[in-house]
Amino acid sequence: MKPRVYVSRRVPGRVRGELERAFDAAIRDSEAPPSREELLAGVSGAKGLMAMLTDAVDRELLDAAGPDLRVVANYAVGYDNVDVGEATRRGVVVANTPDVLTEATAEHALALALTLLRRVAEGERLLRRGEPWTWAPTFMVGHGLRGRMLGVVGFGRIGRDVARLGRLHGMSVAYTNRSGRVETDLGEWLPLNHLLTVADVVSLHAPLTDETYHLIGRDELRTMRDEAVLVNTARGPLVDEAALARALRAGEIAGAALDVYEREPAVEPALLALENVVLTPHLGSATREAREAMGMLCVEALRGVLIEGRCPRNAVNPDAWTRA
Ligand code: GLV
Ligand code: GLV
Repeated sequence: MKPRVYVSRRVPGRVRGELERAFDAAIRDSEAPPSREELLAGVSGAKGLMAMLTDAVDRELLDAAGPDLRVVANYAVGYDNVDVGEATRRGVVVANTPDVLTEATAEHALALALTLLRRVAEGERLLRRGEPWTWAPTFMVGHGLRGRMLGVVGFGRIGRDVARLGRLHGMSVAYTNRSGRVETDLGEWLPLNHLLTVADVVSLHAPLTDETYHLIGRDELRTMRDEAVLVNTARGPLVDEAALARALRAGEIAGAALDVYEREPAVEPALLALENVVLTPHLGSATREAREAMGMLCVEALRGVLIEGRCPRNAVNPDAWTRA
């Protein structure tokens, strides 16, 4: 008998095919998230769960799943939606999808920075409003990347790739990292408060944890340079959104480009009214290639635990495997 797995959202065709071949797969064929009741009922009795970053995988869900649950494959590199400690105690392996979305997410951070600095979205809005315009030496001028300082906050795989792209565009790079200085020729390590005083573009790439919640708040925004811009493709709650809206209105920083939100999918209304703000709906990893590869990594994790009897290489809590 094939092991039963629950998949909480529609997935790319190739991923669906693999799931149906290997498992007794209940795939919820919708882009909209299930209600909590539907999610809890769906996981009941499942051996594996393919979860999305908007599904809270907590004690309640693990209880609802029951003792057969062995693996949660989270369709994301970030796994702040999963209570990993609780999963580990219960011997449930949790896997994520690193590496395959690194380039896509780094590209999106750079796209957001350029959109903001070169006023791409603002110019587009002007045209779509049908406003008159003519080329002029001083019309809608912005800034280029060359010669400017990129401050990378969180220097894991994605942060490093953003640093690499920044360097390719003639930027100098400073980074800050929980684990301190690392061996790299991409840029120099600075403590966060120092980095914020020198960076022209501050780009966030840290995971959401208790320590990084509101990492960028009122004081940090005041520390940033008036001409600096903030880019967030990591997790919304890294930034105090209300403080950000106030700082933008007060001219304490020059702009913000956001892909993630504190109360996703809601966006702080004050931000919607500002021209020097660029907003995308959590599209960091949204290339066909990355999303398919993420799905295949999830399938590999489910297959590893449920069919091949091994700990998947992308397990974030290998302890759960030895415990089970
Ligand atoms: C997306 O936000 C991810 O963590 O993969
Ligand atoms: C601008 O379009 C130029 O030709 O300089």
